[in-house]
Amino acid sequence: MMHHDESESTKDTSGKVSGYGTKQYWDKRYSKPDSSDSQHEWYFTYQELEPILKPCLTTLFESRWVDDVKYGVVEIGCGTQPLLPSIPSSDSPLLGLDYSPVCIKALSKSNKKKLTTYKTQDCRDLTNILPSCSAHMVIEKGTLDAMIVDSIPNCVSILSEMCRVSSKYVVVVTHFNINTEEGEDWVSDVFYPALESVEEEFMWLVKCHTGGEDGPVVYVCEKKTRRITRGNGGKRIQIEILEH
Ligand SMILES: C[S@@+](CC[C@H](N)C(=O)[O-])C[C@H]1O[C@@H](n2cnc3c(N)ncnc32)[C@H](O)[C@@H]1O
Repeated sequence: MMHHDESESTKDTSGKVSGYGTKQYWDKRYSKPDSSDSQHEWYFTYQELEPILKPCLTTLFESRWVDDVKYGVVEIGCGTQPLLPSIPSSDSPLLGLDYSPVCIKALSKSNKKKLTTYKTQDCRDLTNILPSCSAHMVIEKGTLDAMIVDSIPNCVSILSEMCRVSSKYVVVVTHFNINTEEGEDWVSDVFYPALESVEEEFMWLVKCHTGGEDGPVVYVCEKKTRRITRGNGGKRIQIEILEH
């Protein structure tokens, strides 16, 4: 679950921790570079996610490079412990985005990977840097969970932008488990509206890796052109729940 430092954040009247939804909170947290908070890695490491991500990345490495797909992987709200350095090298550029300039400055300084760049960017709107369908995979881990503390529309904006920018995969790592009441609400308030916001020509095949009862969940969403799936009763989102 979300690691939580009450000294740095505030609780609203419902008892929710509200600091996670603000840039100031993250800048302050990241400005102590040697603290465990600043170096905290949320949910899973790349190694833990690899069995799920590898098949999606293999299609990236095997597919012929298409000119208008600018990036192999874009990581949204990458924080100070991004997945990108562990993603196997290929000839495709990788991009890490976070709205905390303190975080991006530290990452850019320590970045040793060719073809990987980090940029300061508020991911609720990516139109200034990323055209539609310009990245093979767009992934986030814990960013929506941080933003939802302040507002559901902010989460819908981020996930809608991820869906627009992706040419093939959107991956969401979250504590919202579709098998729970809270997760069902999240799916209908955030997940479905964002997936449905893409152009009519697209639909989604979603694999939801639920893991253990309390663990984070990995939603792997594959973007398909709709004409391939006619005969599907016109459904735009097909979801398969996997108990691992
Ligand atoms: C819970 S941390 C997760 C960090 C990293 N993904 C990880 O798994 O270790 C949430 C991150 O999202 C970033 N963030 C939150 N809202 C954002 C937004 N609107 N645009 C870009 N980054 C955002 C924060 O600065 C923070 O680094």
